[in-house]
Amino acid sequence: MRAIRIEQYGGLEVLRLQDVPLPRCEAGHVVLRVEAAGVNFADTRHRAGNYPWGEPPPTTLGLEACGAIEEVGKGVSGYKAGDRVAALTNGAYAEYARAPASMVIPLPEGMDSVTGAAFPLQALTAYHLTHTAHVVQEHETVLVHAAAGGVGLMLVQLAKLRGARVIGTTSSEEKAKAIRELGGDEVINYTTSLFDEEVLRLTQGAGVDVAYDAVGRATFERNFNALKLFGHLVSFGAASGIPEPVQPRVLYAKSLKLSGFVLYAVARLPSVWAQGMAQVVKLWQEGKLRVTVHRVLPLEEAAEAHRLLESRGSIGKIVLRVGKAAA
Ligand SMILES: NC(=O)c1ccc[n+]([C@@H]2O[C@H](COP(=O)([O-])OP(=O)(O)OC[C@H]3O[C@@H](n4cnc5c(N)ncnc54)[C@H](OP(=O)(O)O)[C@@H]3O)[C@@H](O)[C@H]2O)c1
Repeated sequence: MRAIRIEQYGGLEVLRLQDVPLPRCEAGHVVLRVEAAGVNFADTRHRAGNYPWGEPPPTTLGLEACGAIEEVGKGVSGYKAGDRVAALTNGAYAEYARAPASMVIPLPEGMDSVTGAAFPLQALTAYHLTHTAHVVQEHETVLVHAAAGGVGLMLVQLAKLRGARVIGTTSSEEKAKAIRELGGDEVINYTTSLFDEEVLRLTQGAGVDVAYDAVGRATFERNFNALKLFGHLVSFGAASGIPEPVQPRVLYAKSLKLSGFVLYAVARLPSVWAQGMAQVVKLWQEGKLRVTVHRVLPLEEAAEAHRLLESRGSIGKIVLRVGKAAA
């Protein structure tokens, strides 16, 4: 089968289209015939060697896929060959991918394979950021960094559904428009102004209840200034680089909370995980959670997908088209 692989960590040049054997279907797993694969910022970190959860090279990239089940492993019930599903996996940039049964989401009626590949990781991350890591309340003001990104646009919508006021940050007017269209109340261009000062101005000096930050180095420290008394900073990524270490005393003056989040920790709580999967699908079916797809590229153009993400050139999601959808 064709797959996008890395044999060493590095820049775009290490992404190679190769012919490799089909994945074996192990117990507790299914194998999908992949129609589309989602591209995540984490894939660019995996390629560069900065993703702690990534399999070391030689390996196939890609964390989520959508397609039809080809084979069902021992001990798996509830799925059969031909079922159309999305799944979190390792090795999604390929014609076939193996996924643990617990990471499989049956595709709802009316969802195409591009949307199916675009939503699982980013929607679940945003769902658990707003419902598990910090339970957003109606009276709260929420700051979302990189709010026009894949996770960002989901965070904006989910925080609005919780009833909160949402302030987003981004780097261009085109991206700001996308944030407002999905419900963002205010948008700050954090490349031309100091976002913490803008947040304080927009909140009459009070600050925000929670800040979601996966930008990292460029934004991290200023979040403490932008937070309200007893405010909460949730750090879940570092697109601009790893921040400097923090001294606990930075938190004292306003009794702040700093926490970290990774989606894979939620997967260790089966009932919370299953509830999140059901909820994001339900919200999509009800038309309350929109999936914004920026570009669909063929599998062999994975390098262009990474280039776009790393150059801040995307709004929402980039998807790789792998194979044809079953008739
Ligand atoms: N912890 C978890 O479980 C988890 C799960 C999913 C994603 N994440 C993290 O969440 C973040 C967003 O992921 P995503 O896949 O949705 O990507 P994305 O937000 O679609 O793309 C990354 C965005 O980050 C912003 N950015 C700021 N500084 C940047 C820089 N120096 N280089 C590149 N981008 C920069 C850009 O938006 P602007 O142009 O608006 O600045 C860019 O569009 C990533 O840090 C990712 O690792 C974490």
